[in-house]
Amino acid sequence: MTEQGTTHVIEVTINGRLYSRTVEARQLLVHFLRDTLDLTGTHIGCDTGSCGACSIILNGKLVKSCMMLAPQADGAVIETVEGLAQDGELNPLQESFSRNHGLQCGYCTPGMLMSAKALLMADPHPTDEAIRLALAGNLCRCTGYTTIVAAVRAASEQPAESSSTPPALGSGERAV
Ligand code: FES
Ligand code: FES
Repeated sequence: MTEQGTTHVIEVTINGRLYSRTVEARQLLVHFLRDTLDLTGTHIGCDTGSCGACSIILNGKLVKSCMMLAPQADGAVIETVEGLAQDGELNPLQESFSRNHGLQCGYCTPGMLMSAKALLMADPHPTDEAIRLALAGNLCRCTGYTTIVAAVRAASEQPAESSSTPPALGSGERAV
């Protein structure tokens, strides 16, 4: 990370692509994703760490991106909801949410999906109790949680791609 007064130059790998940008020291990571990189799949519901709409996976761990500053993500490997579908094919979790009515308005869905993905990376076959615990930091104001839990359970009963990570950055990949 290079400091330039109140700004920093950071490099972040997101969904397998390397980005290099100058950011304000006070910019939240969620605003960096949405406003600087136009990755608007990550939502903002509260900006206070309460709703989980902004959940992403950072260096393999579930993180609420409204609770981190962008400069703190320098050098990180991040997965956002945009990285779930591959080659136009929905991730099994996304398919399962659709098939099991795990969403209505969809506002909470990106965060739910990333929390569910983090769970399945750590525990490919979780109990319903473990699913509910993993989603405890994600609020949904319209669907209700029963179908969301059912969607995660159904995805966990499929082959392991649901917990796959995006392709690693190739050695020749350049920052954009
Ligand atoms: S916007 Fe981050 S937890 Fe609500
Ligand atoms: S589907 Fe509307 S907030 Fe969850």
